[in-house]
Amino acid sequence: MRKAALCALALLTLGACKPMDDALVLVFGRSMRDQRSFDPYENTHPAPVGSVAFAYGNAPAAEGEFNVGQPEGVDIPPFTQLDLGVPGVGGPAIQGMVNPTNPTDPESLARGEEMYMRVCVVCHGPAGVGTGAYIAALHPVLPAYNLSGPQVAAYSDAYIYAMIRVGRGLMPEYGSRISHFDRWHIVNYVRQLQQRAGN
Ligand code: HEC
Repeated sequence: MRKAALCALALLTLGACKPMDDALVLVFGRSMRDQRSFDPYENTHPAPVGSVAFAYGNAPAAEGEFNVGQPEGVDIPPFTQLDLGVPGVGGPAIQGMVNPTNPTDPESLARGEEMYMRVCVVCHGPAGVGTGAYIAALHPVLPAYNLSGPQVAAYSDAYIYAMIRVGRGLMPEYGSRISHFDRWHIVNYVRQLQQRAGN
């Protein structure tokens, strides 16, 4: 009897977790293993009507629904800062990326502006010039990284998308905080800033 109990205990301990989880999935439909963790910037509740949403566009579609995230884009391979390659053009992993959004779509531009004003503005300034930003006072180098000037205007959409996703040098990565389509919307908005600046 004792032997059998010990055996059962050993089985439970040795085979714990995974098989146990699998069994629980059969009963409850899901297990702790499948839980999704939330991004610190993510709002898991829909924004109350008329309020200014805080989360980076990751709010669930409706009350009671989970945010399942936005697809990364099947055509987009994983890449790192090392793949940025030639400034403005990018390495092979980046060169092939095509902007899936319509750059003149007012909805895309509005979303791009919203995101730009939340994330990029502190360093690059409202007009993309850098100098007006709080951080420019602390980092005199930043005005050189003028997003609305001719240099970035000559960059490819894919390169700007890639920079948002993986960062470069002193610029942090925003890939974990800005979703796939929002990155493209920001690219479109940066283009609009360049047009306004005459570039
Ligand atoms: C914390 C400050 C900071 C934030 C926020 C930030 N950037 Fe940057 N950005 C930088 C710095 C610093 C550089 C220069 C990077 C380097 O030294 O390689 C840069 C460079 C760039 C460049 C390349 C400019 C060039 O001339 O090569 C692009 C494009 C860019 N940022 C876009 C963005 C966008 C779009 C956002 C918002 C999603 C953003 N950045 C948010 C600091 C920031």
